Amino acid sequence: MINPKDIDFYSLGFEFIETRSMFVSNFKNGSWDEGKLMPFGKFEISPAACVLNYGQGIFEGMKALRAKNGEITLFRPEENGKRFNKSAKRMLMPEYDLDKFIKGIKIVVKANEDYIPPHDSGGALYIRPMLFGNGPMLGVAPAKEFKLIIFTAPVGPYFPEGFKGIDLEISKTYTRAAPGGTGSTKTICNYAGTMLPAKEAKSRGFAQILYLDAINLEFIEEVGAANFFGIINGKLATPRKTGTILEGITREAVLELASKNLGLEVEERDISYRELFEESCSEVFCSGTAAVITPIASVSFDGKQRIFNNKKPGTITTKLYEILTGIQRLEIEDKFGWMVLV
Ligand SMILES: Cc1ncc(COP(=O)(O)O)c(C=O)c1O
Repeated sequence: MINPKDIDFYSLGFEFIETRSMFVSNFKNGSWDEGKLMPFGKFEISPAACVLNYGQGIFEGMKALRAKNGEITLFRPEENGKRFNKSAKRMLMPEYDLDKFIKGIKIVVKANEDYIPPHDSGGALYIRPMLFGNGPMLGVAPAKEFKLIIFTAPVGPYFPEGFKGIDLEISKTYTRAAPGGTGSTKTICNYAGTMLPAKEAKSRGFAQILYLDAINLEFIEEVGAANFFGIINGKLATPRKTGTILEGITREAVLELASKNLGLEVEERDISYRELFEESCSEVFCSGTAAVITPIASVSFDGKQRIFNNKKPGTITTKLYEILTGIQRLEIEDKFGWMVLV
């Protein structure tokens, strides 16, 4: 473990850096224990564990920030807790009490407080709650024993070189999720399959893939690990919840900010990828805990490229970014009650 005093918080990226403590809770004989703080470290697991053989595991991603006034903040943690339980239910895993979840998050953040990057570094303490079937299982069936772990890692700002757009490639080779599957849950199974498409896209100079729906290969779903938005005919449009996209907590916040703060008309609908190549689509961006609000500079498909706004972040994208990060940094009044102090 690195001593936090030896970390250069001003040059962090998104690499894993071990912190002091993790929160661990075990499910055995039909119930969860109280959970406790432990030193971060390895643990034993059976080679027959359900998670290792059949991928019975879920996770969440959150951030704790250090505000200018020294407070430690979380963004809508109860929403992560609810989504955690929605994912658990879909994967036939025991749910975790919402209050206990938030308490666990606060305990682990407090215990690793000195790993939170300073306010002016733009970094955050990334929080990773996870839950998996560690009980042995030979046939395909849910485990009987489960483990919940919450660990943390300091990370740098998403835009170390300033607020800049990314180049995306629309894929008709790969899809991320199919109707009836697990796309709207944060199960680990959804992520391993996106590594090869992402690697291939990167080798062609793109930051990520823009996924289309699995049936028609026509409607936009989402970017690797972020939700998609476009300003089309002056309205803010985002793919509707079809059960195949991850229903992002930042996505919900962006919809509220766009309609309530910017007075924009918002639409949750099917968006054909073809619309991105038309003049009526003036800006595109994506949103997520890691991505915050990331402008999309261009989208490419089949040898064609649409460049947005000379690759500069659009006006609405920039406004939404400023309001969202202002609220998260306690610099703009939080009228929505989103921020929770640790
Ligand atoms: C597939 C996927 N889509 C979208 C998101 C954005 O969700 P949120 O805003 O809750 O971070 C994430 C990240 O959690 C994700 O993994």
